[in-house]
Amino acid sequence: MEENLLHIKNDAVSLVMDADNLAELNQIYIDFLGRSGKLTKELKNLKDVPQEKRPEVGKLANEIKTAIETIISDKKKLLKQGKRVERAEKLDITKPGIKPKKGSQHLVTQAIKEISQVFESIGFNRVRHPEVEWDWYAFESLNFPEDHPARDDWETFFIDEKPSEKYGPMILTPHTSSGQVREMLEQVKDKKNPSIRMLNLAKCYRRQSDVSHTEMFHQFEGLVIDEGINIGHLKGVLEYFVKSYFGKARTSRIRPYQFQFTEPSFEIDISCGICNGKGCKLCKEGWLELGGAGMVHPNVLKAGKIDPEKYTGFAFGWGVERVLMMKEGLNLPDLRLIYSNRIEFLKQF
Ligand code: PHE
Repeated sequence: MEENLLHIKNDAVSLVMDADNLAELNQIYIDFLGRSGKLTKELKNLKDVPQEKRPEVGKLANEIKTAIETIISDKKKLLKQGKRVERAEKLDITKPGIKPKKGSQHLVTQAIKEISQVFESIGFNRVRHPEVEWDWYAFESLNFPEDHPARDDWETFFIDEKPSEKYGPMILTPHTSSGQVREMLEQVKDKKNPSIRMLNLAKCYRRQSDVSHTEMFHQFEGLVIDEGINIGHLKGVLEYFVKSYFGKARTSRIRPYQFQFTEPSFEIDISCGICNGKGCKLCKEGWLELGGAGMVHPNVLKAGKIDPEKYTGFAFGWGVERVLMMKEGLNLPDLRLIYSNRIEFLKQF
């Protein structure tokens, strides 16, 4: 009977804690202490308790009755004052605890960490440059002609801010390449030797939305500048990244391409992880497109106050969400899912 009494008390306490109006509290009073309430009914069993234990059990029953009455009237007072009961105050430490659900890092955060570690392990410094940026850093200093389509309203987000005389309109940066000249200028400020190993990982914004594009996405930009840097170094870094991030079985290739700020420019492909390069539904004849790269254009070095006769460099800019899709394959068929806030989907990773 003692056990039953304690159960009754626990039930009443948790109902009172969850109740949020007076009618509910009155009902709880009736259900537990009313004429045919749970406690009242239980008290009828007192006659079956052995005589010598009866006073003790009777006392416990009385205490429980008073406790329930008190907590109901306390809660009523609180509700009248418009306050919610603080759980800690009514904490019953004899009740089994509720295990909090364990969270995990969002899959983009996980990818950012992994990517940064790969590059940091070969001497790159992780930096960040502004996401709200001037045209000059995102386009002009990167050798874009005035009428380049990327500078169109339909491609890039413009901010309603008076254009700067020196730097042009204000925009949301459409690529992490806007950090290239910023980094160069920072590095040459007080150093004679502008050796750069930058990893600029940041959010970028473009007017786009389909299965493999979102308006906001992340890019990671590598920039290496020093004396004697050549395409071999670019290929070495690329291959190191591919093997470390995607696994030893994957390989890469470079194709000629065109970017304003690199010469020569390349598009990088990675062998498809689903068909292992044979060709399947997911890929283009065995290859998936990773993103752009190339040797830094002399005009860009000049904009960064670096002597193109003495220094050379390479740059690459790849999408975090894209490499995630390429790694996960069919587990991640639509990039927009990443930002859908569907917990059931995110929990898989
Ligand atoms: N910024 C380019 C893009 O977003 C990628 C790129 C970076 C290409 C660096 C070459 C060098 O498409």
